Amino acid sequence: MTETTGKHITSTVNSMQSQTSSSVHSMASIRPGAFRNACGMFGTGVTVITTRSDGVDYGMTANAFMSISLAPPLIAVSVANTTNMLVRIRQSGRFAVSILEESCEALALHFAGRPDGSVAEPFFDFDDLPGVKDACTVLAAEVEQEVAAGDHVIFVGRVSHIHVDPEKAPLMFHKGRFGKLLSHES
Ligand SMILES: Cc1cc2nc3c(=O)[nH]c(=O)nc-3n(C[C@H](O)[C@H](O)[C@H](O)COP(=O)(O)O)c2cc1C
Repeated sequence: MTETTGKHITSTVNSMQSQTSSSVHSMASIRPGAFRNACGMFGTGVTVITTRSDGVDYGMTANAFMSISLAPPLIAVSVANTTNMLVRIRQSGRFAVSILEESCEALALHFAGRPDGSVAEPFFDFDDLPGVKDACTVLAAEVEQEVAAGDHVIFVGRVSHIHVDPEKAPLMFHKGRFGKLLSHES
């Protein structure tokens, strides 16, 4: 169990990367693992990015999500070049972002390449896109811009529809572990 100060996060299960001791790396020696561990100190929520292509629904777990602009309402997601989701979003030109609720860890793993047979019909129809039923928030967006960025592509999307359930608490991700907020002020 790991506890942080400020917003309290309790790490639970599924360590997805090893921890490192305090260290300094210069640019020439920055390896992907060290970089991932450094960025893993940034606690995030967890989303499932979805799209619908040729009538088929696709989902992919992602924490590289951010809001970009209020007016117009823009969001961005970063999608690895190797993913199926990259191809599907290019095909559809649209995507939705579902911010997962704290009980959705199995769903997060399911859409991160670890298929779980117990996950059945996780989506509802949201502006002709799949949205996760148990999400805190679902945002539907049209692709406005695509930016090549190293081994990822950043999709900037213009938000067309929003669904929010303010009573729900988010699933968290920190140092390669899923967790929950200990205190949640609504
Ligand atoms: C917590 C978490 C966050 C992730 N964030 C991202 C992300 O932001 N972008 C990305 O491309 N992959 C991310 N992944 C990895 C993808 O979910 C994983 O590679 C997935 O299997 C790709 O699915 P696809 O190839 O079927 O589209 C994340 C995985 C986890 C568990």
